[in-house]
Amino acid sequence: MDLPGPPAVGAALRVRAGHPAFGYPVAEEADRVLVARWYRRRHGVEVPPEWVMLLPFGPGTAVRLLLEAARPLSGPAVCVTPEWNGLARACRAAGVPVREVPLVHAPDQRENAFRLPLGGIAAVRPGMVLLSSPNNPTGLLWPAGDIRALARTAAPGLLVSDEVHGDLRHPDAGVPHPVAVAVTDGAPNVVTLNSVGKTFNLSGVPSCLALVPDPALRARLAEVMAGFGLWEGGLLGALVQRAALAEGEEWLAGLLTRLVTARESATAALGGAVLARPQASFLLWLDGSGLGTREELLTQRHVELASGFDFGPAGSGCLRLNFALPPDRLRTALTRLTCATTS
Ligand SMILES: Cc1ncc(COP(=O)(O)O)c(C=O)c1O
Repeated sequence: MDLPGPPAVGAALRVRAGHPAFGYPVAEEADRVLVARWYRRRHGVEVPPEWVMLLPFGPGTAVRLLLEAARPLSGPAVCVTPEWNGLARACRAAGVPVREVPLVHAPDQRENAFRLPLGGIAAVRPGMVLLSSPNNPTGLLWPAGDIRALARTAAPGLLVSDEVHGDLRHPDAGVPHPVAVAVTDGAPNVVTLNSVGKTFNLSGVPSCLALVPDPALRARLAEVMAGFGLWEGGLLGALVQRAALAEGEEWLAGLLTRLVTARESATAALGGAVLARPQASFLLWLDGSGLGTREELLTQRHVELASGFDFGPAGSGCLRLNFALPPDRLRTALTRLTCATTS
């Protein structure tokens, strides 16, 4: 996001920087409880604090290490495409066979333009299912019943639900955010990943959290981490996560209001190119056929969008706009995108 983050985080960092020692932090029970309270307040679900793993790296690394911890898989890993590409990339890096199954596109239904390909995933007999939920790049929330079906399809392998955009559910989304841990009742084969990175614009800080109901998997993940010299708790990650979750909620409410306003401007301006109306986050998935390629837009109109190719095979011909911008900058971007020639 090209927006300032919560002031409480900078304040907490300044205070901590005044302390003379930085050696060997460990995960604190109070931080697991803070996460559990966040889930109760924001998502109405009871998460036992012992399920919370506080990880000193980003969600992409968490996926990679989960793949290590879950080996051997009984079948290929399945990623639903388009996705932010970190999921399929982690599988390839781990040498795990991966199948990218495209979302089902129903262009006539603007509200539910994309659906999860439940049949296509089951047909692959996956050893693990990796889901971006809400989906990056479309900003769509998946129905609770579909997430339950995926958890059953993946069993006894894992359903990894990457929910790093989930706390950015739009207040007018009209449906609850189906948090996997809630809708699957804490099934032992469902792992949720989340972080304060997207929610509070803190992605430069190596930190995320995993909700892991299965104690054996928690132990295995901790062992894999130890093999890389990593352990739960990290000075910087713990500090910013604590400040954001404990003191950032008012800031988040303001942000969500701004995102809804920005979404409305962007969808109105880009009209027929909009492939899905986002229910969460700050991303707009666009049909590039009437707009041009990423390179053309960058060089001729000086607006940088992400190329659909980055999101897997199903992204071909598409573009992704990030609308988390100050209003004047968003207006400029939309004007440049919609005018016939370079200004
Ligand atoms: C769905 C999803 N998961 C994980 C990540 C990685 O998050 P970070 O860049 O905060 O490490 C991203 C980043 O774009 C994402 O969109």
